[in-house]
Amino acid sequence: MTAVSSAVQAPPSVPQVLERCRELVRPALTRAVGRLHPWVGEMAGYSLGWCEVGGAPVAAPGGKGVRQALAVLGAEAAGAPGRAGVPAAVAVELVHTFSLLHDDIMDGDPTRRRRPTVWKAYGTGPAVLAGDALFALAVETLATAPDGPATVRLLSTALADLVRGQADDLLFATRPWTGPQRVRPAEYRTMAEHKTGALLGCAAALGAALGGAPEPTVTALDRAGRHLGVAFQLTDDVLGIWGDPAVTGKPVHGDLRERKRTFPVLSALDSPAGGRLAALLEAGRTEAASLLIEEAGGRTAALAEARLHTAAARTALAGVPLAPGAAGELRSLLDFLVRRDL
Ligand code: IPE
Ligand code: MG
Ligand code: MG
Repeated sequence: MTAVSSAVQAPPSVPQVLERCRELVRPALTRAVGRLHPWVGEMAGYSLGWCEVGGAPVAAPGGKGVRQALAVLGAEAAGAPGRAGVPAAVAVELVHTFSLLHDDIMDGDPTRRRRPTVWKAYGTGPAVLAGDALFALAVETLATAPDGPATVRLLSTALADLVRGQADDLLFATRPWTGPQRVRPAEYRTMAEHKTGALLGCAAALGAALGGAPEPTVTALDRAGRHLGVAFQLTDDVLGIWGDPAVTGKPVHGDLRERKRTFPVLSALDSPAGGRLAALLEAGRTEAASLLIEEAGGRTAALAEARLHTAAARTALAGVPLAPGAAGELRSLLDFLVRRDL
């Protein structure tokens, strides 16, 4: 044996893991989208970042594919080959795309990932239809894979939570900044777990289920994904106020201008500076508001809360037997998504 081949191999980087999972899932995802009505399929392809309006392919397609990676790694963590998790990966990627498509209509957002949103590019009616089609395709993908009834049940639970989270998110915007009706940080946590965490948890749990994992493992992966979702959302909140627009692709102080009830804001509103902050937010003075939120500890509180949820996700993973390679990759993915350099 040579010195080179006996050397310990460095584990793959997170971008390499994501790329490997995307490559494994791409053929099945492309086949699934190819079964849609061609016009609806084009909107789905546009939404997935594969093509432009009109169908011309995009040179560097797609997003990170976090959910599909969680599904593949879930199967591998259960000791199965990654391909066992592919139907789960396809289903969660379709549901994610569907939820963003409809979310952009609900939020009235004109752009996503620096491109016009589907409803802006194709019209609201067609965008609703494309979302419905993606949802139906996701259910069909699981129903026709092994263990159909059990996996469809896992997906429906996640979807019910996602709807619950979206509903709370929409209602938060109608509540006052201060007073007894204000949104509390605890309500935010539940909303974020539902809105973002449920599908991340479902991705990993579905992958594990298709990989033949026992029930406690499926539940642990679901829990880990849900905590990851909250941590991810908290990080997103911090970036939404203080992130570099060149990196985030979002306008500076965008979340403050849109008066979003994000965790740093809610936490600062609960401090003695709450009244002053509410006045600044009402007046649209976003720069002064961002400074006051930071001064009142809102940014620190959000980051501390994100660290708590990352730790809880790690604890959930550590509580069940998992294949070591995949478990390591899941942990790295966790750290990658909840940025530490904030
Ligand atoms: C999107 O939530 C989450 C779902 C679609 C369930 P947000 O509205 O907070 O996220 P972005 O900023 O549009 O991606
Ligand atoms: Mg939105
Ligand atoms: Mg939204």
